[in-house]
Amino acid sequence: MSSAGAVTGGGREGLTVLVTGATGFVGSRLVPVLARAGHRVRAMTRHPDAYDGSGEPVYGDVGDPDSLLEPLTDVDVAIYLVHSLGEADFERRDAEAARAFAIAAQEAGVRQLIYLGGLGEEQDGLSAHLRSRRQVEQLLASSGVPLTVLRAAIIVGAGGISWELTRQLVKHLPAMVVPRWASTRTQPIAIDDVVRYLAGVVGNEAAFGRTFELGGADRLTYTAMLQQAAEELHGRSLPILEVPVLTPRLSSYWIALVTDVDPVTARNLIDSMRNEVVQHDQDIRELVPGEPLGYRQAVRRALGE
Ligand SMILES: NC(=O)c1ccc[n+]([C@@H]2O[C@H](COP(=O)([O-])OP(=O)(O)OC[C@H]3O[C@@H](n4cnc5c(N)ncnc54)[C@H](OP(=O)(O)O)[C@@H]3O)[C@@H](O)[C@H]2O)c1
Repeated sequence: MSSAGAVTGGGREGLTVLVTGATGFVGSRLVPVLARAGHRVRAMTRHPDAYDGSGEPVYGDVGDPDSLLEPLTDVDVAIYLVHSLGEADFERRDAEAARAFAIAAQEAGVRQLIYLGGLGEEQDGLSAHLRSRRQVEQLLASSGVPLTVLRAAIIVGAGGISWELTRQLVKHLPAMVVPRWASTRTQPIAIDDVVRYLAGVVGNEAAFGRTFELGGADRLTYTAMLQQAAEELHGRSLPILEVPVLTPRLSSYWIALVTDVDPVTARNLIDSMRNEVVQHDQDIRELVPGEPLGYRQAVRRALGE
C-alpha cells in the first residue's frame, strides 16, 4: 500500500481509490463515504462531464480496454462495481470487461481489487446471472492483484434494481400470484451495511485474497420479503397465491407490465431467484464489526430515502 496510507482500525486512510460504477446505486453511495474517510477518490464513469457527485470524475469504459490504464494509474485500490445485466449478451460482455480491467489493474500496479458479487452455492446449479458474477470474480483474481470479494443477495435501498422490483410490485398490485421460486430463501442486506463493508475492506490487508459473504440480520423467503415490504409500505399484508408453474419468461412479462425495471434485467434477476442466496459464514464481521440491519429496518430506510 502507498506510504501515505495510515492504519485506522482495520482499514486505512489516505489512499487513492478508484470506484468504477461510481454513478450507480452502490457506487454513488460509496464514493462520499470513502472521501469522508480521507481517501482520494476517483469516480469512474463513461460520462465524466455529467458527473456531479463527490470525488474526481475520470473517464473509463470497461468495454474499451485502452481507456482503462489512465484512470488506474497511481491507484492503490480499485473497486469494481460494473455489470451489464440489462444486455442480452451480458455474460460475454461482463467477462471481457473483467478480463480487460484485471489486465489494466495489474499493469498499473494496483495493490488491491475489490469486487461486489452475488451469493449462491455453486453445487446448486447457479443461474446465468450468478454464474457470470462468479466468472467475473475468477477473471479479476487471475490478474494476480490481491482481490477481495464481497458477495451479497438483494441490496435494499432506493434505486437498487432488485429492491425497486420488490417495491413497485408491492406498490402497484392488490394481490400477487407467485411461482415456486417464491419459497426460496434469501438474505437481503441494507445498502448502508454494504457500503460499510466495502469501505471497511479498503486497504485492509487482512482482506487481501479473501471472499466474504454479506447478509442482513434476517433470512426469509421471497414471499415473506414481499409480505413484509407490503406491511411497511401499506400497513397491511398482501394476498399472495403460490402457483406451481410460472416460468421466468412469463414472470418477467408480467413484471414489465407493473414496474419500470427493464425486462431483460428483470428476467435475469427472476431466473436467479431459484438459487438460495444466504450467508454461510460471518467472517466479514471479524474485519468490519457492527450489527447489520434487519429487513424491515432496511425497508424503512429505503422508503424514507
Ligand atoms: N443492486 C443489487 O441488489 C446488487 C446485489 C448484489 C450485487 N450487486 C453488484 O453490485 C455491483 C454494482 O451494482 P449496482 O446495483 O450499483 O449497479 P448499477 O446501479 O446498475 O450501476 C452500474 C454502473 O456500471 C457502470 N457501467 C456500466 N457499463 C459500463 C462500462 N462499459 N464502462 C464503465 N462503467 C460502466 C455505470 O456507469 P456509467 O453509466 O456512469 O458509465 C453504472 O455506474 C454489480 O457488480 C452488481 O452485480 C448488486
